[in-house]
Amino acid sequence: MPPQLVKILNDSYQAVKNDGQDVIAGLTKNPKTLPPKYFYDDYGSELFEQICALPEYYPTRTETSILKEYANEISELTGSRELVELGSGSSTKTRLLLDAYQKIGNSFTYIPTDVSGGILKTSVLELQEKYPYFSIQGLLGTYQQTLAYLESTPKALRTICFLGSSAGNFSPQEFDNLLTKVTRSLQPGNYFLLGIDLDKSQEILEPAYNDSEGVTAAFNLNMLSHLNWRFQGNFDLDVFNHKAIYNQAESQIEMRLYCQENVTFSLETLDLKVNFQAGESIMTEISRKFDLGILQTKLEAKELKLKKVWTDPKKWFGLILCQA
Ligand code: AVJ
Repeated sequence: MPPQLVKILNDSYQAVKNDGQDVIAGLTKNPKTLPPKYFYDDYGSELFEQICALPEYYPTRTETSILKEYANEISELTGSRELVELGSGSSTKTRLLLDAYQKIGNSFTYIPTDVSGGILKTSVLELQEKYPYFSIQGLLGTYQQTLAYLESTPKALRTICFLGSSAGNFSPQEFDNLLTKVTRSLQPGNYFLLGIDLDKSQEILEPAYNDSEGVTAAFNLNMLSHLNWRFQGNFDLDVFNHKAIYNQAESQIEMRLYCQENVTFSLETLDLKVNFQAGESIMTEISRKFDLGILQTKLEAKELKLKKVWTDPKKWFGLILCQA
């Protein structure tokens, strides 16, 4: 792997360096929580790709349909020469944007960023082959590491995109902090493209996170396998059950793993023992569902001026373009 293709914002390629303090904090809290970034070891990223293709999981399809229709408009409106993507995964949807930027024909840099080294490396190699005239530079790291790095690099004609409603994983306070960092990584005139899932009925939302094939359950449980290999843990996946519910008051899906027994597990390298009561759960993810109006006000408060908003005919998903 030539070093210019995937730049590692950490000292280890296979595993994003992590001291696990966030795991200790989450598992010693009551109720227990874990940060969603631990879904995405290499296997977790593969499972997420499978989720995106599920019939119940509408967000990927819907966002793709919006991008298909408006990618050309986005590339023309922004005229960017550099596209940074936060949490790029396989970059599948992003190819629609890359195709649109390719039509403009200027020199162009795409910077996919992810915490999963396997999927990042594979997609950078594939993309470099598909877009031979683009400079493709992967960044392996967390959102925080990526944005800290981007702040210190030249920002001319940059667009940062954050697709797939991954922003929904943040609490309102965390999202605020992220927007501050995004703004710092842009210069005036640059763009921020944000894809977000819009609020809708429980009848559509809950099946999307409790699919009939059990892929989401496997994805959720894989977080424990990830902790097992990363921190020498002994979580037994068989005693946990996946369940996602829609919390209407907070407009968010909440995913949990329920422990069915009174049991203690440990994470050796964190020197941590975790006791569970039968029926106790770990919340592994919130996935917020947004109101476009409220979000627009929030973006404007962060000096991200609304340029244009696109949705699908059912108004299930929104794509917001802002200018710094
Ligand atoms: C990648 C965070 C946008 O919240 O819908 C999918 C993750 N979790 N199924 C989402 C997820 C369960 C997904 N995001």
